[in-house]
Amino acid sequence: MREWGGAALTFMENLNQLSISPQNIDYIILNHLEPDHTGFTYMLNNLAPNAQFVTTSKGVELLEEFYGIKDSSISVKTGDSLDLGNGKKFSFTEIPHVHWPETMVSYEEKSKILFSGDAFGAFGVHQGPIFDNETPNVSKEYWEEEMLRYYANIIAMFSPNVIKAIDSLKNLEIQQIAPSHGLIWKGKPEVVIRKYKRYANYNQDYAEPEICVVWGSMYGNTEKMLNAILRGISQEGLPVSVFRVPNDDPSYILAKAYKSAGLIIGTPTYEYSMFPPMKYFMELLQKKHIYYKKVLFFGSYGWSGGAQKDFEKLSQNMKWDIFEPLSFKGHPTKEQLQKGISLAIELAQQVKKIPPKVNDETY
Ligand SMILES: Cc1cc2nc3c(=O)[nH]c(=O)nc-3n(C[C@H](O)[C@H](O)[C@H](O)COP(=O)(O)O)c2cc1C
Ligand SMILES: [Fe+2]
Ligand SMILES: [Fe+2]
Repeated sequence: MREWGGAALTFMENLNQLSISPQNIDYIILNHLEPDHTGFTYMLNNLAPNAQFVTTSKGVELLEEFYGIKDSSISVKTGDSLDLGNGKKFSFTEIPHVHWPETMVSYEEKSKILFSGDAFGAFGVHQGPIFDNETPNVSKEYWEEEMLRYYANIIAMFSPNVIKAIDSLKNLEIQQIAPSHGLIWKGKPEVVIRKYKRYANYNQDYAEPEICVVWGSMYGNTEKMLNAILRGISQEGLPVSVFRVPNDDPSYILAKAYKSAGLIIGTPTYEYSMFPPMKYFMELLQKKHIYYKKVLFFGSYGWSGGAQKDFEKLSQNMKWDIFEPLSFKGHPTKEQLQKGISLAIELAQQVKKIPPKVNDETY
C-alpha cells in the first residue's frame, strides 16, 4: 500500500516528540477510509497492537476489505461519543458521501476542534503557515483557488450531502476546523463553512457571472471561431477563463467551469464523434454534476460531423440552457464568424445578469 509523501514517517516522528509510544495508543479514529488517509493503518495495526479503530459501521467494513483489520474496530454513529478519561471527549457525526459513504467528523468537546476529514479541505501545498490566521494576504487567492479546485474535483457531485452535513453540524460550537487537506481554520472557522456552502450552491443554480471557455482544435479551424467568440465576450467585459484541451490540466478547467455560469465548448469532429480530449472533459462535467450553465457549442467538421451530436448526448440531464449550436464545415466563413460574435455577446449579456454569490469571507 502506498505511503503518502512521507506521512507515515512524520506521524511516527510526531508521536515520538510527544513521547507517545504506539504500544500505548488506545484509539485510532478514522473519519474517512480513503487510502490517502488510511494507507498506513495496516502497519499501524501492528505497531499499535492495543489500539482500537473507531469509525462508522461502513468504515468497519471498509477497514476489513481494504486492510484485513476486523477484530480491533469499534463502530460509532451520529451522537455517540468517546470519553478518553483525561478531560478529552470526542463526539461523532456521520456526514455520508462527503466524500465516501462511511465518512464522519469528530468533535473534541473541550478544545472545540472539529476534525472534519475531507470536508472543508483544499488542494494546494503549504508554503509555511498551516493556519488560516497566519496565512499572509498574498496567499489567500491561492488558497481560494485551491479550495475551489478541490471542491469541484472531489466534492462537487456530493453537494446536496455537503448542505446536509453543514446543517447537521450547526449545533456545535466550533473553535477550530482541522480538515485532512489544506488550511487548518483556527482564526475564523466560520469562513470555510461559508465557502463550502457557497461552492455547494454552484450546482444547485447558476454560479458566478463569469465565462469559462474550453476548446480544442487539430488544424486551427475551430480555433478561428474561438477568436471571434472571445472578441464577442470581451465587448461585455466579463471575467473569462480560456483553456485548451488536452494541453491544460482538467482539474483546473473543472474548477473554473464549476464556478462560471457561462460555459463555451469548442471542439472539432474526430472519427464521427467529438475530439477525444473534449469528450473526456464533457464526461467529467457530467460525472461531477456541473449543472446550471448557459452554454454555447461550436466546432468544425470535415464531411459528416459528429461532435455536435455527441455534445447533445453528453449535455442531457445537465440542466443547461443551451444556445443555438454553431457547427461549420472546414474553416468558418465571414458570416459564421459574425454569428459567433453575436452569439457570444448574447451569452455574455445573459451571464452578466446573474447576481454574484455573496463572498464576504475575509479571514
Ligand atoms: C483523425 C481525424 C478524424 C476525423 N474524423 C472526421 C469525421 O468522422 N467526420 C468529419 O466530419 N470530420 C472528421 N475529421 C475532419 C475534421 O473534423 C475537420 O478537418 C475539422 O475542420 C477539424 O477542425 P480543426 O481545424 O479545429 O481541428 C477528422 C479529422 C481527423 C484528424
Ligand atoms: Fe476522500
Ligand atoms: Fe482525502
